[in-house]
Amino acid sequence: MTIAITSDHGGYELKKEIVKYLDKNNIRYKDLGVFSAESVDYPDIAIPCAESVARGEFKKGIIICGTGIGVCIAANKVKGIRAALCHDTFSARMSRQHNNANILTMGGRVIGPSLATEIVDVWLNSEFEGDRHQRRVDKIADYENRNI
Ligand code: RB5
Repeated sequence: MTIAITSDHGGYELKKEIVKYLDKNNIRYKDLGVFSAESVDYPDIAIPCAESVARGEFKKGIIICGTGIGVCIAANKVKGIRAALCHDTFSARMSRQHNNANILTMGGRVIGPSLATEIVDVWLNSEFEGDRHQRRVDKIADYENRNI
């Protein structure tokens, strides 16, 4: 499984920490940038990353901005994306087990690297439980398919 990771300038420092975690744990990833703290508009990094996950190029994505909010809103506009903003490990686990989240978003100005790394670890290692949760996720997809 290869995951995509990206950030805007607000998430740049935290992205570097998460990349260290991915390297240390031999998790395959593609860093889609940014590669400096120069200001960029968060939709410009969130939407291409979300599209690549929706196309199946990556199984999951991690997107970081200042708050995690803007990139979450933008990513969720892409059909097939279930992006979850998680700043605690319980939400991270639930977003996988119940919501089958395929993108994790976080805010580099909200949480520190230790908690963020733990959130990523929990999120990557939690599996979707299916069953009644599949029915609920399917209802979101049905809505999406009716409204193109
Ligand atoms: C950039 O200043 C900031 O607005 C962005 O990183 C993010 O927090 C938006 O939701």
